[in-house]
Amino acid sequence: MIKRILVWDVPTRVFHWLQALSFAAAYLTAFSERSRNYHVALGFILLGLLVFRLLWGFVGTRYARFRSFLFNPKEIVAYLLALAKGKPAHYLGHTPVGSVAIWILMSLGIFICVTGVLALQDDASDVVVQMHGVATNVMLGVIVLHLIGVVMSSILHRENLVAAMLTGFKPAKSGEGIQRSYTWLGVLMVVAVVIFWFAYVRKPLG
Ligand code: HEM
Repeated sequence: MIKRILVWDVPTRVFHWLQALSFAAAYLTAFSERSRNYHVALGFILLGLLVFRLLWGFVGTRYARFRSFLFNPKEIVAYLLALAKGKPAHYLGHTPVGSVAIWILMSLGIFICVTGVLALQDDASDVVVQMHGVATNVMLGVIVLHLIGVVMSSILHRENLVAAMLTGFKPAKSGEGIQRSYTWLGVLMVVAVVIFWFAYVRKPLG
């Protein structure tokens, strides 16, 4: 019998959507000197979210843990071959190919934030500033691939992955759902981000 089972806990969902929002807003505020403080505040928020996600990858719930989407090259190739035949295996968490985009997105996110912080220093080199911009454009490309992958996977497996990232639930036969959603932690994350935003915008660094 198909049941709705909980796959994504609240902190993972809050991380995902706040990360998408802060990246998009940081991108849009990057081009004008007037919106620089907003850009920097959003960058710090993104960095904070990524640091949280790094920790949650070790102590979080089953499908949020890194070891649940740490696939070896053989598994990735096997998934791709099955995909080419139109019969990819179904995963409750991230798929082997989806996980590649996710590892790249998280690594690039950290790289962009770190180069952004370095670029804030008075003696920042042009190379650092350039790397910050180039990595951001590479990230945009990976996000496009990520979105194509989400749509394709939703069609192939006849499941709405975006709805799952919003509600946390997926339809599945097995009883392999997570037991706790950690709503309190998700709420705490939103509160921390809002407090940081207003505190920073009132009194920016430098
Ligand atoms: C409207 C835009 C977006 C949609 C609809 C979307 C959708 C999704 C979905 C459905 C998943 C789960 C995939 C799965 O089931 O395996 C996911 C995961 C993920 N997405 Fe997005 N995404 C969007 C934007 C972004 C952006 C802008 C970024 C990066 C800045 C991003 C980074 C990630 C990451 C890192 C994960 C893994 C989440 C985790 O395990 O914590 N996404 N996304």
